[in-house]
Amino acid sequence: MAQRFITTPIYYVNDRPHIGHAYTTIICDVIARFWRMQGHDVRFLTGTDEHGEKIAAAAEKAGRSPKAHTDDVSRNFRHLAEACLASNDDFIRTTEPRHAETVAWFWRRLVDEQAIYLGKYVGWYAIRDEAYYTDTEVTTAANGERIAPTGAAVTWREEESYFFNLSHWTEPLLEFYAENPDFVVPRARYNEVIAFVKGGLKDLSVSRLGLDWGIPVPNSVTHRDETGKISGHSVYVWLDALVNYYTARTDATSGEAYWPPSLHVVGKDILRFHCVYWPAFLMAAKLPLPRRILAHGWWTNEGVKISKSLGNVIDPHELFATYGVDQTRYFLLREVRVGSDGDFRRDSMLNRCNAELANDWGNLVQRVLKQVEKNCDGAIPVFADPEFLAEDDAFLQSLPALLPEVIEAGESMQLTEMLEVIWQAIRDANKYVDTTAPWQLRKTDPERMRFVLYNLCEAIRRIALTLLAFMPSTSGKVLDQLGVGTAERTFDHYEKTLIGGTAVLSPQGLFPRIAPPEAGQPETKQAKTNKHTPSNQKKEG
Ligand code: ME8
Ligand code: MG
Repeated sequence: MAQRFITTPIYYVNDRPHIGHAYTTIICDVIARFWRMQGHDVRFLTGTDEHGEKIAAAAEKAGRSPKAHTDDVSRNFRHLAEACLASNDDFIRTTEPRHAETVAWFWRRLVDEQAIYLGKYVGWYAIRDEAYYTDTEVTTAANGERIAPTGAAVTWREEESYFFNLSHWTEPLLEFYAENPDFVVPRARYNEVIAFVKGGLKDLSVSRLGLDWGIPVPNSVTHRDETGKISGHSVYVWLDALVNYYTARTDATSGEAYWPPSLHVVGKDILRFHCVYWPAFLMAAKLPLPRRILAHGWWTNEGVKISKSLGNVIDPHELFATYGVDQTRYFLLREVRVGSDGDFRRDSMLNRCNAELANDWGNLVQRVLKQVEKNCDGAIPVFADPEFLAEDDAFLQSLPALLPEVIEAGESMQLTEMLEVIWQAIRDANKYVDTTAPWQLRKTDPERMRFVLYNLCEAIRRIALTLLAFMPSTSGKVLDQLGVGTAERTFDHYEKTLIGGTAVLSPQGLFPRIAPPEAGQPETKQAKTNKHTPSNQKKEG
C-alpha cells in the first residue's frame, strides 16, 4: 500500500515536556497506528529542535554548555514519546551530523536557485518565538516593554544577514493554496494563512551573525571583532528546524525515502512557519511540498493559560501515573475537536475515565468475558443453528458498518468523531446485553446464551480493533483476552470472525475507577478494580 509520512513539530529543548507536547505526539501516534492498520507503509517522525538563541540562553541559565543541556533535555522528550506509547520510527535531533549535512546541502541549493542574497536586517526580533515581527505587529505592554502579538518581548536589530526571497513566492503560494484547499486543516486556519500571505510577504532574514550555537552558513562571509575573533553567519533556527523533516525522510534500515510528507501535525502557534515559509523554501529548492498541515488548538489548565511563570504546567507523566496512559490519550482526543482550543479540567477527566472508560467500555468487556469464562468453559462460545430474533439482526447488521463509519469520520482528521462513532457501538453492545440478558438464558436456553455471547465477543473484538490506535495498551489487552493474535490486529481481519472453542483469558479490569480527590489531594487509582462493577454483576455471573 501507499507510503505515508507523518511528523510532530520538533520540540525546543529549553524546557521540560508538558501536556501540549504530549497532545501533538498522541494525535500523530493515533493517525500513524490507524494508517498502519489500514495497511499503509508508514513513517512517523518526532524529535527535538536544539539550536538558536533561545536554547543557548536556556543552557546558560542552567549553567551548562549548550551540548550538555540539549543532550539532557532532548532525552526528556524521548522519554515522553515512550511514555505516551508513541510508535515513532525515528527521533531526530537537529544537533546530529546527518542534519547539519542536510541543512548545508539545502542552503547551497537555495543559493544555486538564487533564492538567497546578502543584505541587512533592520527590525524586531523575539527570541522566545525565534521570529521576526513588523512595526505594525509590535505593541507596547503595560510595563512599557515592546511585545509581539504572542506576548513575547522583542528587541530591535540592525545587522548584516542573508535573506531568503520570500516575497517572490507570494503568487506561487496563493496559487498553490487555491489548488489545494485541504492543504491546511481546519478551514479557519487555511483562511488565516491565505489572509496572511495576501497581506504581503517581505523577504525573510535567514541567518544570524556571530551566533555560535547553530549550523554554519556554507561559505559565509566572515567578520573580525575588536578582540580579533572571526565569526560568520549561522542558519536561522527556523530554516534549520523545518529542514529536519527532509533530513529524516529516510528509513535507516530499508533505505527507503518517504517524501513528500503526508501530514505535518502542529499547534496553531507555528502555522506561519509550516504553511508559508516551509512551502516557499521547498518551492525554491524545487522539492515536492507536504500534502497537508493539521493545526490543532491550545490547551489551558482549568481555564488558565499554561505557563512556567504561573507554575501551572501540567506534567504528562503525572497524568499517566494518576489516570493511566490510555485514559489520558482518550481524554485529550475525546474532550475537544482537533483544531479547537481545549481546557484541561480534572473533573471532566475523572468523569470520562469513570463513565466512558470504566462503565461503558471496561464494564462491557468485563461482564461479557466473565460470563464466557464461567458459562462457556472459558472459550469462545460454540453454537448450532441459532434462531435470529429482531434484536440479533439489528445488532449483527451494525457490526460491519462500524469500521467504514470510523474511517469516514477520520477522513477530515476528526479523531473526536471517530471516538463518538465507536462509543455508539459500545452503547449498542451494552444495550444488546441488557435486552438479551444472557445470564438468564443460562438455565432457560443455553444454546441461545452461547449465540448471544458469541455475538458480543465478536462485537468486542471489532470495537477493540477500531480502538487499538487510540488506546493501544488496553485494547491490546482485550484482544489478548479474546485470543486474537498480534498478526490479526489489522483492518484486513476486521470481517474475519472469532473461531468457537478458542480459549479466552480470564478477564482483568481495564480501567480502575478513579476516586475523586480528597480536598487538596490528587486523585488516586483505586487498588481494587472491581469495586465499581455494578450491582447486577452477581446476577450476570
Ligand atoms: O515551536 N497546547 O517548539 P515548541 C497545545 N521548535 N499544544 C501545545 C501547547 C499547548 N498549551 N504547548 C505546546 C517549537 N504545544 C519549534 C517547532 S518544528 C520544525 C519546530 C505543542 O517546543 C504544539 O504542537 O515550542 C506546538 O506547536 C508545539 O508544542 C510547540 O513546541
Ligand atoms: Mg513554543
